[in-house]
This record gives sequence, structure tokens and C-alpha cells, in this order.
Amino acid sequence: MSILQTLILFSFLLSASHAAVQDFCVGDLSAPEGPAGYSCKKVSAVTVNDFVFSGLSVAGNTSNLIKAAVTPAFVTQFPGLNGLGISLARLDIAPGGVIPLHTHPGGSEVLFVIQGSISVGFISSSANTVYLKTLNKGDSMIFPQAIALPIECW
Ligand SMILES: *[C@@H]1O[C@H](CO)[C@@H](O)[C@H](O)[C@H]1NC(C)=O
Repeated sequence: MSILQTLILFSFLLSASHAAVQDFCVGDLSAPEGPAGYSCKKVSAVTVNDFVFSGLSVAGNTSNLIKAAVTPAFVTQFPGLNGLGISLARLDIAPGGVIPLHTHPGGSEVLFVIQGSISVGFISSSANTVYLKTLNKGDSMIFPQAIALPIECW
């Protein structure tokens, strides 16, 4: 049974207020998260490991109703992403699995297929059109923000 694996990169809208004054703002997860993200960890406490995340090496468990699993690498799992306007996720989908229709109001998405084939698409309300495509290993597709996005694997 071949399991589809995809890597999803999200690019979120944000203000660039942190970027102007320092190179990075590793999230201090011990403080509450605000609308612009977490406050910055003290630079003296930052290590290279704040910029490295290995959690996407582990396949998600697809033994569920939708036969799919999303493994996030968001700021909560990967504090080095804080304030940069990007995040990642790993998507594992078993044959017959589906990611239900959903939207990403705050960010565009890049999907990159590492293994398998999927049918993906999005619905544009402004163009009143469905953009649907079968993607294979190595293919990428972008999903502009705020549009509906279904994903299906067979
Ligand atoms: C995957 O999830 C199912 C259902 O919750 C569970 O029975 C199974 O043990 C899990 N498999 C792994 C490898 O964690």
C-alpha cells in the first residue's frame, strides 16, 4: 500500500516589525502568543536547534476516518519560525483518504508531493472556477490564500 506523502509550506501574512531590527525572533513559548506571534527568546539563549525541526521525518497515523494525518511544523513545534511568516506540515494520506474542503484565510500554500499521486484542487469564487489537477511524485502546486481546497488520494 503506497502512502502519499506531501510537504506543505504555508506563507502567512504578517507585519515585518521584527525583521527590521533583528535577524530573527525565536519564539518564547513560555509567554502567551499575541496576534504577531510569540515574543522573542533572549538572543543569548538561542541555539542552532531553535532553527532545526526533525518532526516531519515521522509518518502520521492514517488509521482514521479520513485516512489522512497532518503533522504540523508550526511555531509551537518549531519556535525558530516565529515572526517569519512561514510554516510547514507533513501530510500522509492512505489510498482512499481525503482532506475535507477547507480554507486558509491567513496564508497561501505550496504543496510538494514526495511520494504517490493525489487529486487536488481549489475553488476560486472570483473566477467562479474549479482548478483541479492530479499531482504525482515531484510535482508542486500553489494554493492562493483564502480559497477552498480539497485533497484526495486513491
Ligand atoms: C494508529 O491509530 C489507530 C487508531 O487510533 C491505533 O489503533 C493504532 O495503534 C495507531 N498506530 C500507530 C502505529 O500508532
